[in-house]
Amino acid sequence: MSLSRDIIVRPAGPEDSAEIRALHVRAFGPGRFARTAYRLREGTEEFSPFCRVCRIDGQLVAAVRFTPILIGGRDGALLLGPLAVDPAFANQGYGRGLVGGALEAARGAGIALVLLVGDEPYYARLGFRRVPRGQITLPGPVDPERLLIVELVPGALAKYSGLVARG
Ligand SMILES: CC(C)(COP(=O)(O)OP(=O)(O)OC[C@H]1O[C@@H](n2cnc3c(N)ncnc32)[C@H](O)[C@@H]1OP(=O)(O)O)[C@@H](O)C(=O)NCCC(=O)NCCS
Repeated sequence: MSLSRDIIVRPAGPEDSAEIRALHVRAFGPGRFARTAYRLREGTEEFSPFCRVCRIDGQLVAAVRFTPILIGGRDGALLLGPLAVDPAFANQGYGRGLVGGALEAARGAGIALVLLVGDEPYYARLGFRRVPRGQITLPGPVDPERLLIVELVPGALAKYSGLVARG
């Protein structure tokens, strides 16, 4: 028997939807729809070109979504989330690998920055930092310590301020 695993990372598509929903239940549990970031994504196109899934031996073990947004009316930005890794595959680099690859693709496509609501200690290693307080607001309550940004174009953040809306 071979111990090598067949690991495939590729853009997410509609054929992955049911398995992504099941993964979210395993990773997050109930209550996730109340969050402001989820409200922003509601009703948007489910898959942008930057969404990714990772399969190991055919089983979907990680997924990340990116949604185009406007910040103060300006485009060129994405909202990251949700990112979910199957608890059975946690802490093996799949989350960071999936996000890192997608950020490179976004940079190549000319995306200027990526926003998210999440844990700074985790996302700092991917280059994210806190948004200066008050510069960017979401249409609902968000802990300002969890509102994070990464610039894919150096200096891009200076051009973005105001309310986030669907792109
Ligand atoms: C958080 C999550 C995406 C991390 O993915 P992962 O593939 O397990 O993590 P990675 O292998 O990329 O990174 C592991 C490292 O991050 C650390 N880490 C994991 N979650 C963390 C968190 N919430 N805060 C700080 N550090 C964290 C681990 O301790 C580990 O550190 P080490 O490298 O020093 O050992 C995943 O555990 C998950 O889906 N959790 C539940 C859903 C969730 O909270 N999603 C994020 C909000 S959108």
